[in-house]
Amino acid sequence: MTTAQPQTLPSRQIQFLFTVALASLLILGSARIMLDNLKNNRSPFLRLLHLTKRDYKVVRLPVNVSDDEVIEDGCNVFEGKWVWDNLSFPVYGEESCPYLVKQVTCKRNGRPDSFYQNWRWQPHACQLPRLNALKLLEVLRDKRLMFVGDSIQRGMFESMVCLVQSVIPEGKKSLQRIPPRKIFTAQDFNATIEYFWAPFIIESNSDNAINHTVRKRLVRLDSIAKHGKQWEGVDILVFESYIWWMYKPQINATFGSPYDVREYNVTTAYRLAMETWANWIETSIDPNTQKVYFMSMSPTHLWDWEWKPGSHDGNCFNETHPIQDPSYWGTGSNLHIMETVRDVLSQLQIDVTFLNITQLSDYRKDGHTSVYGERRGKLLTKEQRSNPKTFADCIHWCLPGVPDTWNEILYAHILKDYRSKRSKLCPAPL
Ligand SMILES: *[C@@H]1O[C@H](CO)[C@@H](O)[C@H](O)[C@H]1NC(C)=O
Ligand SMILES: *[C@@H]1O[C@H](CO)[C@@H](O)[C@H](O)[C@H]1NC(C)=O
Ligand SMILES: *[C@@H]1O[C@H](CO)[C@@H](O)[C@H](O)[C@H]1NC(C)=O
Ligand SMILES: *[C@@H]1O[C@H](CO)[C@@H](O)[C@H](O)[C@H]1NC(C)=O
Ligand SMILES: *[C@@H]1O[C@H](CO)[C@@H](O)[C@H](O)[C@H]1NC(C)=O
Ligand SMILES: *[C@@H]1O[C@H](CO)[C@@H](O)[C@H](O)[C@H]1NC(C)=O
Ligand SMILES: *[C@@H]1O[C@H](CO)[C@@H](O)[C@H](O)[C@H]1NC(C)=O
Ligand SMILES: *[C@@H]1O[C@H](CO)[C@@H](O)[C@H](O)[C@H]1NC(C)=O
Repeated sequence: MTTAQPQTLPSRQIQFLFTVALASLLILGSARIMLDNLKNNRSPFLRLLHLTKRDYKVVRLPVNVSDDEVIEDGCNVFEGKWVWDNLSFPVYGEESCPYLVKQVTCKRNGRPDSFYQNWRWQPHACQLPRLNALKLLEVLRDKRLMFVGDSIQRGMFESMVCLVQSVIPEGKKSLQRIPPRKIFTAQDFNATIEYFWAPFIIESNSDNAINHTVRKRLVRLDSIAKHGKQWEGVDILVFESYIWWMYKPQINATFGSPYDVREYNVTTAYRLAMETWANWIETSIDPNTQKVYFMSMSPTHLWDWEWKPGSHDGNCFNETHPIQDPSYWGTGSNLHIMETVRDVLSQLQIDVTFLNITQLSDYRKDGHTSVYGERRGKLLTKEQRSNPKTFADCIHWCLPGVPDTWNEILYAHILKDYRSKRSKLCPAPL
Protein backbone atom coordinates (compact mmCIF):
# COMPACT_ATOMS: atom_id res chain seq x y z
CA MET A 1 0.00 0.00 0.00
CA THR A 2 1.35 3.42 -0.80
CA THR A 3 0.74 6.61 1.06
CA ALA A 4 0.57 9.99 -0.58
CA GLN A 5 3.28 12.33 0.59
CA PRO A 6 1.54 15.51 1.61
CA GLN A 7 4.29 17.74 2.94
CA THR A 8 4.51 19.93 -0.14
CA LEU A 9 0.86 20.93 0.04
CA PRO A 10 -0.47 24.05 1.76
CA SER A 11 -1.66 23.28 5.26
CA ARG A 12 -5.28 24.14 4.50
CA GLN A 13 -5.45 21.08 2.28
CA ILE A 14 -3.46 18.81 4.52
CA GLN A 15 -6.17 18.30 7.00
CA PHE A 16 -8.21 16.42 4.45
CA LEU A 17 -5.55 14.18 2.98
CA PHE A 18 -5.98 11.31 5.27
CA THR A 19 -5.08 8.87 2.52
CA VAL A 20 -5.79 5.25 1.95
CA ALA A 21 -3.99 4.30 5.13
CA LEU A 22 -6.61 6.09 7.16
CA ALA A 23 -9.41 4.24 5.46
CA SER A 24 -8.03 0.89 6.53
CA LEU A 25 -7.47 2.11 10.06
CA LEU A 26 -11.08 3.09 10.30
CA ILE A 27 -12.21 -0.28 9.01
CA LEU A 28 -10.28 -2.21 11.55
CA GLY A 29 -11.01 0.25 14.28
CA SER A 30 -14.71 -0.25 13.95
CA ALA A 31 -14.74 -3.93 13.19
CA ARG A 32 -13.23 -4.52 16.59
CA ILE A 33 -16.53 -3.97 18.31
CA MET A 34 -17.44 -7.62 17.84
CA LEU A 35 -14.15 -9.32 17.38
CA ASP A 36 -12.34 -8.58 20.57
CA ASN A 37 -12.14 -11.23 23.16
CA LEU A 38 -13.31 -10.64 26.64
CA LYS A 39 -11.05 -12.51 28.95
CA ASN A 40 -12.30 -13.20 32.39
CA ASN A 41 -9.18 -12.39 34.32
CA ARG A 42 -9.45 -11.92 38.04
CA SER A 43 -8.81 -8.45 39.27
CA PRO A 44 -6.20 -8.14 41.99
CA PHE A 45 -8.23 -5.37 43.62
CA LEU A 46 -11.27 -7.38 44.45
CA ARG A 47 -10.58 -8.09 48.02
CA LEU A 48 -10.51 -4.42 48.83
CA LEU A 49 -14.22 -4.41 48.77
CA HIS A 50 -16.75 -6.68 50.42
CA LEU A 51 -20.00 -5.00 49.71
CA THR A 52 -23.04 -7.18 49.56
CA LYS A 53 -26.44 -6.43 48.13
CA ARG A 54 -27.78 -5.99 51.62
CA ASP A 55 -25.29 -3.29 52.44
CA TYR A 56 -26.47 -1.23 49.50
CA LYS A 57 -30.12 -1.71 50.30
CA VAL A 58 -29.75 -0.75 53.93
CA VAL A 59 -27.25 2.08 53.63
CA ARG A 60 -27.98 4.46 50.79
CA LEU A 61 -26.43 7.72 51.86
CA PRO A 62 -26.15 10.56 49.40
CA VAL A 63 -22.72 10.85 47.90
CA ASN A 64 -20.72 13.64 49.49
CA VAL A 65 -18.86 15.73 46.99
CA SER A 66 -16.38 18.08 48.57
CA ASP A 67 -14.93 21.21 47.00
CA ASP A 68 -11.63 19.59 46.14
CA GLU A 69 -13.44 16.88 44.18
CA VAL A 70 -14.93 19.21 41.63
CA ILE A 71 -13.32 21.69 39.29
CA GLU A 72 -12.86 25.03 40.97
CA ASP A 73 -15.18 27.73 39.69
CA GLY A 74 -13.53 29.77 37.01
CA CYS A 75 -10.75 27.28 36.34
CA ASN A 76 -10.32 26.34 32.68
CA VAL A 77 -9.10 22.75 33.00
CA PHE A 78 -8.33 22.63 29.30
CA GLU A 79 -5.43 25.04 29.69
CA GLY A 80 -2.40 23.50 31.27
CA LYS A 81 0.53 21.23 30.66
CA TRP A 82 1.55 17.61 30.96
CA VAL A 83 3.79 16.87 33.92
CA TRP A 84 5.75 13.70 34.60
CA ASP A 85 4.07 11.75 37.39
CA ASN A 86 4.98 8.09 37.47
CA LEU A 87 3.65 7.75 41.03
CA SER A 88 -0.01 8.42 40.28
CA PHE A 89 -0.08 7.29 36.65
CA PRO A 90 -1.14 5.02 35.14
CA VAL A 91 -4.27 4.55 37.26
CA TYR A 92 -4.72 0.97 36.03
CA GLY A 93 -2.46 -1.44 34.19
CA GLU A 94 -3.04 -3.26 30.93
CA GLU A 95 -2.96 -6.48 32.93
CA SER A 96 -5.45 -5.39 35.57
CA CYS A 97 -8.19 -4.44 33.12
CA PRO A 98 -9.60 -7.45 31.28
CA TYR A 99 -11.84 -5.29 29.11
CA LEU A 100 -9.19 -3.68 26.94
CA VAL A 101 -9.19 -4.75 23.31
CA LYS A 102 -5.93 -5.78 21.72
CA GLN A 103 -5.93 -2.68 19.57
CA VAL A 104 -5.05 -0.41 22.49
CA THR A 105 -2.71 -2.52 24.65
CA CYS A 106 0.42 -1.03 23.12
CA LYS A 107 2.82 -2.30 25.74
CA ARG A 108 1.65 -5.89 25.44
CA ASN A 109 1.83 -5.48 21.69
CA GLY A 110 5.52 -4.70 21.92
CA ARG A 111 5.84 -0.97 22.47
CA PRO A 112 9.31 -0.60 24.03
CA ASP A 113 8.68 2.53 26.13
CA SER A 114 5.91 3.15 28.64
CA PHE A 115 6.50 6.86 29.29
CA TYR A 116 3.20 7.61 27.57
CA GLN A 117 1.42 6.12 30.62
CA ASN A 118 3.07 8.42 33.15
CA TRP A 119 1.95 11.93 32.27
CA ARG A 120 -0.56 13.84 34.36
CA TRP A 121 -2.52 16.75 32.98
CA GLN A 122 -1.95 19.79 35.17
CA PRO A 123 -4.31 22.71 34.53
CA HIS A 124 -2.65 26.11 35.08
CA ALA A 125 -5.29 27.41 37.47
CA CYS A 126 -6.33 24.44 39.62
CA GLN A 127 -5.98 20.74 40.32
CA LEU A 128 -7.83 18.14 38.32
CA PRO A 129 -9.61 15.91 40.88
CA ARG A 130 -8.54 12.26 40.93
CA LEU A 131 -11.18 9.80 39.86
CA ASN A 132 -12.75 7.88 42.73
CA ALA A 133 -14.33 4.81 41.17
CA LEU A 134 -16.67 3.95 44.04
CA LYS A 135 -17.94 7.47 44.19
CA LEU A 136 -18.57 7.57 40.48
CA LEU A 137 -20.46 4.27 40.60
CA GLU A 138 -22.55 5.56 43.49
CA VAL A 139 -23.40 8.68 41.50
CA LEU A 140 -24.26 6.46 38.52
CA ARG A 141 -26.51 4.23 40.63
CA ASP A 142 -29.66 3.30 38.67
CA LYS A 143 -28.31 5.27 35.74
CA ARG A 144 -26.98 4.81 32.24
CA LEU A 145 -23.88 6.60 30.99
CA MET A 146 -23.48 6.30 27.22
CA PHE A 147 -20.63 7.26 24.90
CA VAL A 148 -21.78 7.83 21.30
CA GLY A 149 -19.39 8.15 18.38
CA ASP A 150 -16.61 6.43 16.48
CA SER A 151 -13.64 4.27 17.44
CA ILE A 152 -11.97 7.18 19.26
CA GLN A 153 -15.02 7.37 21.45
CA ARG A 154 -14.84 3.62 21.95
CA GLY A 155 -11.38 4.17 23.41
CA MET A 156 -12.87 6.65 25.86
CA PHE A 157 -15.54 4.10 26.79
CA GLU A 158 -12.94 1.40 27.43
CA SER A 159 -10.86 3.79 29.46
CA MET A 160 -13.87 4.62 31.64
CA VAL A 161 -14.66 0.94 32.16
CA CYS A 162 -11.06 0.29 33.18
CA LEU A 163 -11.03 3.27 35.53
CA VAL A 164 -13.99 1.92 37.52
CA GLN A 165 -14.02 -1.85 37.10
CA SER A 166 -11.34 -2.76 39.63
CA VAL A 167 -13.53 -1.83 42.60
CA ILE A 168 -16.30 -4.19 41.49
CA PRO A 169 -15.97 -7.82 42.59
CA GLU A 170 -15.80 -10.59 40.00
CA GLY A 171 -19.24 -11.87 39.11
CA LYS A 172 -20.81 -8.47 39.77
CA LYS A 173 -19.75 -6.92 36.50
CA SER A 174 -20.11 -7.86 32.88
CA LEU A 175 -19.53 -6.63 29.36
CA GLN A 176 -22.07 -7.42 26.67
CA ARG A 177 -21.78 -6.75 22.97
CA ILE A 178 -25.06 -6.05 21.24
CA PRO A 179 -23.99 -4.17 18.10
CA PRO A 180 -24.04 -1.25 17.71
CA ARG A 181 -23.80 -1.18 21.50
CA LYS A 182 -21.35 -2.37 24.12
CA ILE A 183 -22.69 -2.45 27.63
CA PHE A 184 -20.67 -2.67 30.82
CA THR A 185 -22.89 -3.41 33.82
CA ALA A 186 -22.08 -2.85 37.48
CA GLN A 187 -24.78 -5.10 38.89
CA ASP A 188 -24.92 -4.00 42.50
CA PHE A 189 -25.18 -0.40 41.42
CA ASN A 190 -27.72 -1.14 38.69
CA ALA A 191 -25.53 1.12 36.58
CA THR A 192 -24.34 0.76 33.01
CA ILE A 193 -21.53 2.36 31.07
CA GLU A 194 -22.30 1.97 27.40
CA TYR A 195 -20.89 2.62 23.98
CA PHE A 196 -22.94 3.25 20.85
CA TRP A 197 -21.30 3.05 17.43
CA ALA A 198 -22.43 6.05 15.33
CA PRO A 199 -19.34 7.43 13.58
CA PHE A 200 -21.22 10.43 12.16
CA ILE A 201 -23.73 10.66 15.06
CA ILE A 202 -26.43 11.11 12.39
CA GLU A 203 -27.28 8.14 10.16
CA SER A 204 -25.00 6.88 7.42
CA ASN A 205 -24.07 3.79 5.47
CA SER A 206 -21.33 3.16 8.04
CA ASP A 207 -23.69 2.47 10.91
CA ASN A 208 -23.36 -1.27 10.84
CA ALA A 209 -20.80 -1.76 13.57
CA ILE A 210 -19.30 -4.81 11.93
CA ASN A 211 -19.70 -4.53 8.21
CA HIS A 212 -19.55 -1.07 6.74
CA THR A 213 -18.02 0.80 3.90
CA VAL A 214 -15.35 3.37 4.62
CA ARG A 215 -14.49 4.70 1.17
CA LYS A 216 -17.99 4.96 -0.28
CA ARG A 217 -19.40 6.81 2.64
CA LEU A 218 -22.85 8.31 2.40
CA VAL A 219 -24.35 10.32 5.23
CA ARG A 220 -28.00 11.20 5.75
CA LEU A 221 -27.72 14.70 7.09
CA ASP A 222 -31.32 15.00 8.25
CA SER A 223 -31.73 11.51 9.74
CA ILE A 224 -31.18 10.73 13.38
CA ALA A 225 -34.46 9.18 14.56
CA LYS A 226 -33.31 5.57 14.34
CA HIS A 227 -30.24 6.30 16.45
CA GLY A 228 -32.14 8.63 18.72
CA LYS A 229 -34.59 5.89 19.65
CA GLN A 230 -31.75 4.02 21.30
CA TRP A 231 -30.45 7.07 23.16
CA GLU A 232 -33.83 7.96 24.62
CA GLY A 233 -33.89 8.30 28.38
CA VAL A 234 -30.14 7.74 28.83
CA ASP A 235 -29.11 9.72 31.90
CA ILE A 236 -25.72 10.92 30.72
CA LEU A 237 -24.84 11.11 27.03
CA VAL A 238 -21.35 11.87 25.73
CA PHE A 239 -21.13 12.60 21.98
CA GLU A 240 -18.16 12.78 19.65
CA SER A 241 -17.74 12.74 15.85
CA TYR A 242 -14.89 14.04 13.74
CA ILE A 243 -12.43 11.77 12.01
CA TRP A 244 -14.92 10.06 9.71
CA TRP A 245 -15.85 13.40 8.19
CA MET A 246 -12.27 14.19 7.30
CA TYR A 247 -11.58 11.68 4.56
CA LYS A 248 -11.97 14.10 1.65
CA PRO A 249 -12.93 17.80 1.32
CA GLN A 250 -16.34 16.66 0.04
CA ILE A 251 -18.70 13.99 1.22
CA ASN A 252 -21.68 12.33 -0.43
CA ALA A 253 -24.84 13.08 1.45
CA THR A 254 -28.59 13.25 1.28
CA PHE A 255 -30.81 15.87 2.80
CA GLY A 256 -34.51 15.39 2.24
CA SER A 257 -35.03 12.77 -0.42
CA PRO A 258 -32.96 9.66 0.29
CA TYR A 259 -32.46 9.26 -3.49
CA ASP A 260 -31.00 12.70 -4.06
CA VAL A 261 -27.32 12.10 -3.33
CA ARG A 262 -25.09 15.17 -3.62
CA GLU A 263 -21.53 16.07 -2.80
CA TYR A 264 -21.35 18.53 0.10
CA ASN A 265 -18.35 20.41 1.41
CA VAL A 266 -17.45 18.64 4.62
CA THR A 267 -17.79 21.79 6.71
CA THR A 268 -21.28 22.40 5.32
CA ALA A 269 -22.28 18.79 5.83
CA TYR A 270 -20.93 18.78 9.39
CA ARG A 271 -22.97 21.87 10.23
CA LEU A 272 -26.17 20.37 8.83
CA ALA A 273 -25.53 17.17 10.77
CA MET A 274 -24.92 19.11 13.98
CA GLU A 275 -28.17 21.00 13.44
CA THR A 276 -30.05 17.74 13.03
CA TRP A 277 -28.44 16.52 16.23
CA ALA A 278 -29.23 19.78 18.03
CA ASN A 279 -32.85 19.46 17.02
CA TRP A 280 -32.94 15.95 18.46
CA ILE A 281 -31.40 17.19 21.69
CA GLU A 282 -33.98 19.94 22.06
CA THR A 283 -36.92 17.69 21.42
CA SER A 284 -35.73 14.58 23.29
CA ILE A 285 -33.68 15.61 26.30
CA ASP A 286 -35.19 16.49 29.64
CA PRO A 287 -32.57 18.77 31.20
CA ASN A 288 -33.94 18.07 34.68
CA THR A 289 -33.10 14.40 34.53
CA GLN A 290 -30.57 14.08 31.73
CA LYS A 291 -27.19 15.56 30.97
CA VAL A 292 -25.39 15.87 27.63
CA TYR A 293 -21.68 16.33 26.90
CA PHE A 294 -19.97 16.96 23.57
CA MET A 295 -16.31 16.06 23.12
CA SER A 296 -14.19 18.26 20.88
CA MET A 297 -12.16 16.56 18.17
CA SER A 298 -9.39 14.14 18.98
CA PRO A 299 -6.30 15.34 17.10
CA THR A 300 -4.11 13.22 14.83
CA HIS A 301 -0.32 13.29 14.46
CA LEU A 302 0.28 12.19 10.91
CA TRP A 303 3.20 14.46 9.93
CA ASP A 304 6.13 15.01 12.25
CA TRP A 305 7.41 18.11 10.44
CA GLU A 306 4.64 19.93 12.28
CA TRP A 307 6.46 19.62 15.59
CA LYS A 308 9.93 18.73 14.31
CA PRO A 309 10.88 21.34 11.73
CA GLY A 310 13.12 19.95 9.02
CA SER A 311 11.77 16.44 9.29
CA HIS A 312 10.36 14.98 6.09
CA ASP A 313 8.30 11.89 6.20
CA GLY A 314 7.90 10.77 9.78
CA ASN A 315 4.75 10.59 11.87
CA CYS A 316 3.91 9.78 15.49
CA PHE A 317 6.06 6.65 15.40
CA ASN A 318 8.98 6.65 17.87
CA GLU A 319 7.63 9.67 19.77
CA THR A 320 8.04 9.25 23.51
CA HIS A 321 7.39 12.72 24.95
CA PRO A 322 4.60 15.29 24.73
CA ILE A 323 5.05 18.53 22.81
CA GLN A 324 6.16 21.27 25.20
CA ASP A 325 5.37 24.35 23.11
CA PRO A 326 2.21 25.67 24.81
CA SER A 327 0.94 27.35 21.65
CA TYR A 328 1.17 24.19 19.53
CA TRP A 329 -1.83 23.57 17.32
CA GLY A 330 -1.43 20.93 14.62
CA THR A 331 -3.25 20.49 11.34
CA GLY A 332 -4.89 17.35 12.71
CA SER A 333 -7.52 19.61 14.31
CA ASN A 334 -9.83 21.47 11.99
CA LEU A 335 -10.73 24.94 13.24
CA HIS A 336 -13.76 25.31 10.96
CA ILE A 337 -15.29 22.25 12.52
CA MET A 338 -14.42 23.59 15.97
CA GLU A 339 -16.23 26.85 15.10
CA THR A 340 -19.24 24.93 13.86
CA VAL A 341 -19.52 22.98 17.08
CA ARG A 342 -19.17 26.16 19.12
CA ASP A 343 -21.89 27.89 17.09
CA VAL A 344 -24.37 25.06 17.25
CA LEU A 345 -23.87 24.48 20.98
CA SER A 346 -24.20 28.17 21.77
CA GLN A 347 -27.61 28.29 20.09
CA LEU A 348 -29.02 25.33 22.00
CA GLN A 349 -31.74 25.98 24.56
CA ILE A 350 -30.48 23.02 26.55
CA ASP A 351 -27.16 23.27 28.32
CA VAL A 352 -24.71 20.87 26.69
CA THR A 353 -21.25 20.83 28.24
CA PHE A 354 -18.45 21.08 25.70
CA LEU A 355 -15.32 19.18 26.73
CA ASN A 356 -12.57 20.90 24.78
CA ILE A 357 -9.89 18.21 24.96
CA THR A 358 -8.36 19.00 21.56
CA GLN A 359 -5.37 21.05 22.58
CA LEU A 360 -4.36 18.99 25.58
CA SER A 361 -4.44 15.91 23.36
CA ASP A 362 -2.66 17.75 20.56
CA TYR A 363 0.44 17.93 22.77
CA ARG A 364 0.44 14.13 23.00
CA LYS A 365 2.18 13.05 19.83
CA ASP A 366 3.55 10.18 21.96
CA GLY A 367 0.18 8.75 22.93
CA HIS A 368 -0.94 6.97 19.73
CA THR A 369 -0.91 3.26 19.08
CA SER A 370 1.54 3.79 16.23
CA VAL A 371 2.75 0.36 15.04
CA TYR A 372 1.72 -1.34 18.30
CA GLY A 373 -1.89 -1.76 17.34
CA GLU A 374 -3.88 -3.75 14.84
CA ARG A 375 -4.83 -3.63 11.22
CA ARG A 376 -7.81 -5.58 9.92
CA GLY A 377 -8.17 -7.29 13.27
CA LYS A 378 -4.60 -8.56 13.48
CA LEU A 379 -1.54 -7.20 15.20
CA LEU A 380 0.91 -5.77 12.72
CA THR A 381 3.49 -8.21 11.42
CA LYS A 382 7.19 -7.62 11.91
CA GLU A 383 7.48 -6.43 8.33
CA GLN A 384 4.63 -3.99 8.73
CA ARG A 385 6.15 -2.67 11.96
CA SER A 386 9.40 -1.96 10.24
CA ASN A 387 7.49 0.32 7.87
CA PRO A 388 5.93 2.90 10.19
CA LYS A 389 5.60 5.40 7.35
CA THR A 390 2.82 3.28 5.96
CA PHE A 391 1.56 1.38 8.95
CA ALA A 392 1.72 3.62 12.02
CA ASP A 393 -1.71 4.50 13.42
CA CYS A 394 -1.47 8.11 14.59
CA ILE A 395 -5.21 8.47 15.21
CA HIS A 396 -6.11 6.00 17.93
CA TRP A 397 -4.67 6.12 21.46
CA CYS A 398 -2.92 3.56 23.65
CA LEU A 399 -4.55 2.63 26.95
CA PRO A 400 -3.76 3.40 29.68
CA GLY A 401 -3.18 6.81 28.17
CA VAL A 402 -4.64 10.08 26.98
CA PRO A 403 -8.36 9.06 27.10
CA ASP A 404 -7.99 8.44 30.85
CA THR A 405 -7.50 12.19 31.24
CA TRP A 406 -10.59 12.92 29.16
CA ASN A 407 -12.49 10.74 31.61
CA GLU A 408 -11.04 12.44 34.67
CA ILE A 409 -12.35 15.70 33.27
CA LEU A 410 -15.72 14.15 32.51
CA TYR A 411 -15.79 12.68 36.02
CA ALA A 412 -15.20 16.06 37.65
CA HIS A 413 -18.11 17.47 35.64
CA ILE A 414 -20.41 14.57 36.49
CA LEU A 415 -19.72 15.06 40.19
CA LYS A 416 -20.29 18.77 39.94
CA ASP A 417 -23.63 18.25 38.17
CA TYR A 418 -24.63 15.72 40.79
CA ARG A 419 -23.82 18.13 43.58
CA SER A 420 -25.64 21.08 42.07
CA LYS A 421 -28.70 18.94 41.34
CA ARG A 422 -28.72 17.65 44.90
CA SER A 423 -28.37 21.08 46.40
CA LYS A 424 -31.39 22.16 44.37
CA LEU A 425 -33.41 19.18 45.63
CA CYS A 426 -32.44 19.55 49.27
CA PRO A 427 -30.87 22.93 49.96
CA ALA A 428 -28.49 23.04 52.89
CA PRO A 429 -30.15 24.13 56.13
CA LEU A 430 -29.57 27.79 56.97
C1 LIG B 1 -21.87 12.65 54.04
O1 LIG B 1 -21.63 13.63 55.00
C2 LIG B 1 -22.56 13.59 56.08
C3 LIG B 1 -22.31 14.79 56.97
O2 LIG B 1 -20.95 15.03 57.10
C4 LIG B 1 -22.39 12.25 56.83
O3 LIG B 1 -23.31 12.17 57.89
C5 LIG B 1 -22.66 11.11 55.86
O4 LIG B 1 -22.39 9.87 56.47
C6 LIG B 1 -21.77 11.24 54.63
N1 LIG B 1 -22.17 10.28 53.63
C7 LIG B 1 -21.34 9.43 53.06
C8 LIG B 1 -21.91 8.50 52.04
O5 LIG B 1 -20.16 9.41 53.33
C1 LIG C 1 9.88 7.65 38.21
O1 LIG C 1 10.57 8.67 37.53
C2 LIG C 1 11.75 9.08 38.17
C3 LIG C 1 12.28 10.29 37.42
O2 LIG C 1 12.40 10.04 36.06
C4 LIG C 1 12.73 7.90 38.19
O3 LIG C 1 13.92 8.27 38.85
C5 LIG C 1 12.08 6.73 38.93
O4 LIG C 1 12.92 5.60 38.85
C6 LIG C 1 10.74 6.40 38.31
N1 LIG C 1 10.06 5.43 39.13
C7 LIG C 1 9.45 4.38 38.64
C8 LIG C 1 8.76 3.50 39.61
O5 LIG C 1 9.44 4.14 37.45
C1 LIG D 1 -32.26 0.19 37.49
O1 LIG D 1 -32.05 1.38 36.76
C2 LIG D 1 -33.04 1.67 35.81
C3 LIG D 1 -32.66 2.96 35.11
O2 LIG D 1 -31.44 2.83 34.43
C4 LIG D 1 -34.39 1.83 36.49
O3 LIG D 1 -35.38 2.02 35.51
C5 LIG D 1 -34.70 0.58 37.30
O4 LIG D 1 -35.87 0.78 38.05
C6 LIG D 1 -33.56 0.27 38.25
N1 LIG D 1 -33.83 -1.01 38.91
C7 LIG D 1 -33.88 -1.14 40.23
C8 LIG D 1 -34.10 -2.51 40.74
O5 LIG D 1 -33.74 -0.18 40.98
C1 LIG E 1 -21.21 -6.53 4.08
O1 LIG E 1 -22.13 -5.68 3.41
C2 LIG E 1 -22.07 -5.74 1.99
C3 LIG E 1 -22.97 -4.67 1.40
O2 LIG E 1 -24.10 -4.44 2.17
C4 LIG E 1 -22.47 -7.16 1.56
O3 LIG E 1 -22.38 -7.26 0.16
C5 LIG E 1 -21.50 -8.16 2.20
O4 LIG E 1 -21.89 -9.47 1.89
C6 LIG E 1 -21.47 -7.98 3.72
N1 LIG E 1 -20.41 -8.82 4.29
C7 LIG E 1 -20.61 -9.54 5.38
C8 LIG E 1 -19.41 -10.30 5.88
O5 LIG E 1 -21.66 -9.56 5.98
C1 LIG F 1 -19.80 10.44 -4.48
O1 LIG F 1 -20.34 9.31 -5.12
C2 LIG F 1 -19.97 9.20 -6.49
C3 LIG F 1 -20.69 8.01 -7.07
O2 LIG F 1 -20.49 6.87 -6.30
C4 LIG F 1 -18.46 9.06 -6.59
O3 LIG F 1 -18.06 8.99 -7.94
C5 LIG F 1 -17.79 10.25 -5.91
O4 LIG F 1 -16.39 10.09 -5.90
C6 LIG F 1 -18.30 10.39 -4.49
N1 LIG F 1 -17.77 11.60 -3.91
C7 LIG F 1 -17.04 11.61 -2.79
C8 LIG F 1 -16.62 12.95 -2.29
O5 LIG F 1 -16.73 10.61 -2.19
C1 LIG G 1 -17.09 24.34 -1.14
O1 LIG G 1 -15.74 24.67 -0.86
C2 LIG G 1 -15.09 25.29 -1.96
C3 LIG G 1 -13.62 25.42 -1.61
O2 LIG G 1 -13.44 25.77 -0.26
C4 LIG G 1 -15.76 26.62 -2.25
O3 LIG G 1 -15.13 27.25 -3.32
C5 LIG G 1 -17.21 26.36 -2.58
O4 LIG G 1 -17.88 27.58 -2.76
C6 LIG G 1 -17.89 25.58 -1.48
N1 LIG G 1 -19.20 25.19 -1.93
C7 LIG G 1 -20.28 25.32 -1.17
C8 LIG G 1 -21.55 24.84 -1.78
O5 LIG G 1 -20.23 25.74 -0.04
C1 LIG H 1 13.27 5.13 16.13
O1 LIG H 1 14.09 5.15 17.28
C2 LIG H 1 15.15 4.22 17.22
C3 LIG H 1 15.85 4.23 18.57
O2 LIG H 1 15.93 5.52 19.08
C4 LIG H 1 16.09 4.61 16.08
O3 LIG H 1 17.12 3.66 15.99
C5 LIG H 1 15.30 4.61 14.78
O4 LIG H 1 16.09 5.08 13.73
C6 LIG H 1 14.06 5.48 14.90
N1 LIG H 1 13.25 5.29 13.71
C7 LIG H 1 12.68 6.28 13.05
C8 LIG H 1 11.87 5.91 11.84
O5 LIG H 1 12.76 7.42 13.42
C1 LIG I 1 -11.01 24.92 22.45
O1 LIG I 1 -9.74 25.21 22.93
C2 LIG I 1 -8.87 25.78 21.97
C3 LIG I 1 -7.51 25.97 22.58
O2 LIG I 1 -7.41 25.57 23.88
C4 LIG I 1 -9.41 27.10 21.50
O3 LIG I 1 -8.57 27.64 20.51
C5 LIG I 1 -10.79 26.86 20.92
O4 LIG I 1 -11.37 28.09 20.55
C6 LIG I 1 -11.68 26.19 21.94
N1 LIG I 1 -12.93 25.86 21.28
C7 LIG I 1 -14.11 26.28 21.73
C8 LIG I 1 -15.28 25.89 20.89
O5 LIG I 1 -14.24 26.90 22.76
